[in-house]
Amino acid sequence: MFSPKTIPLIQATVPLLKARGEEITQHFYRTMLNEHPELKAFFNEAHQAQGTQARALASAVLAYASHIDRLEALAPALPRIIQKHVSLGVQPAHYPIVGDSLLRAIRHVLGEVASDDIMAAWAEAYGSLAQLLIDAEEAVYAQTAAQPGGWRGERTMRVLRKVRESDIITSFYLVPADARPLAPFIAGQYLTLVLNVDGQPLRRNYSLSDAPHQPWYRISVKREQGGTVSNWLHDEVEAGALLQVQPPAGEFTLDAQAQRPLLLVTGGVGITPAMAMLEATAASGRPIRFIHAARHGGAHAFRERVDQLVQAHRNVEAVYIYDEPRAEDRPHAVGRVDRDLLARQMPDDRDVDLYLLGPKPFMQAVYAHGLALGVPAGQLRYEFFGPAEELLAA
Ligand SMILES: Cc1cc2nc3c(=O)[nH]c(=O)nc-3n(C[C@H](O)[C@H](O)[C@H](O)COP(=O)(O)OP(=O)(O)OC[C@H]3O[C@@H](n4cnc5c(N)ncnc54)[C@H](O)[C@@H]3O)c2cc1C
Ligand code: HEM
Repeated sequence: MFSPKTIPLIQATVPLLKARGEEITQHFYRTMLNEHPELKAFFNEAHQAQGTQARALASAVLAYASHIDRLEALAPALPRIIQKHVSLGVQPAHYPIVGDSLLRAIRHVLGEVASDDIMAAWAEAYGSLAQLLIDAEEAVYAQTAAQPGGWRGERTMRVLRKVRESDIITSFYLVPADARPLAPFIAGQYLTLVLNVDGQPLRRNYSLSDAPHQPWYRISVKREQGGTVSNWLHDEVEAGALLQVQPPAGEFTLDAQAQRPLLLVTGGVGITPAMAMLEATAASGRPIRFIHAARHGGAHAFRERVDQLVQAHRNVEAVYIYDEPRAEDRPHAVGRVDRDLLARQMPDDRDVDLYLLGPKPFMQAVYAHGLALGVPAGQLRYEFFGPAEELLAA
């Protein structure tokens, strides 16, 4: 697949990339977004500012360089990248732009080490990875469009209802303005809003929070302090408003065939995909524990609906944990989701599917507790409301 010189030349750059990978991607983003401001709409500025997106790209590039002689080892990492790209509408024509900026950043940061041979090897390697992603993304675009109710690119949706779910979370029910059918999704997936807020083009992912086969899509948005889109949605978008929506995507999906006990463990607005998962499985008879951590009752969304499902289905139990309860609150526990609490919700053999989402420290803690308790790593699934980050770092 590669010319014979390429593999050793790429491998020779791995130690340098390890040391300076993030620097390369920082430089890459600066150059690319300066020269191609039209791409700013795709890249979330907050993720740039926090450095999480640069780290995600740096670790992907590094993993690629490290595994250049056995690319099959990268296979598990690809679906997330592909789904993220597809959700945001990344196109084949974007790849040469990214490639040009990335190669220039590599040349810049490596300085004298970046010989013509090394740069040619990187150009070949990038081209090959880009083609792999382009082909895989095209397959997903085509499949999504071909399913009943499916589409490609943007589709105009009307806000059918706006419903307050807590002091800070509000739901928006979206129906297609063309009144044609709506493709089902897999619980855990998210859609993308393509927006223009005060002249600023922006794209944001939002998890689908209702059951997969409703005649609407529901998203539930937390008002983020200083956040552009979430505040705009809360303050400006009412029933009747039209929004541009890209189809559901994402690989944090519920395995609906699995029968082993299901633990949905969420903190804060991380509850949204778990609501879709609960709605999709409550009637299946599968044992389900819905464990949710909120600051207090005022910030706790969907309590009424989850309680209804607990009442209606003997296989569903809920545990609510508040860390700052108000006097009137009645959680099941006060504090955080610790190892003992988690252990009490699992059978002794720990053969459960655990789906996890919340603030990063919450996820790090629950992930570590899950592993320590003996839940198989492959049965611990998680999503990030931003670029993927390292969970075991803690
Ligand atoms: C797969 C996925 C699913 C998601 N699902 C949901 C969901 O169900 N519900 C939900 O509410 N959210 C969800 N999100 C998060 C959502 O996409 C948005 O990131 C969120 O709504 C915040 O967007 P915003 O425009 O309001 O905030 P932004 O304007 O992006 O700002 C976010 C934070 O960063 C700060 N910030 C912004 N720009 C900068 C800067 N330049 N420097 C420093 N700080 C900055 C802001 O003050 C704010 O605190 C999901 C994200 C992903 C990736
Ligand atoms: C070979 C080339 C590429 C690689 C290896 C790559 C890799 C990645 C990785 C690892 C992520 C983080 C995924 C996550 O959320 O965990 C990501 C996200 C992203 N990629 Fe790419 N990518 C490539 C090309 C492109 C191209 C051509 C575009 C077009 C504009 C693009 C746009 C994006 C965007 C917008 C995000 C999300 C950024 C955010 O969260 O703010 N990528 N990519």
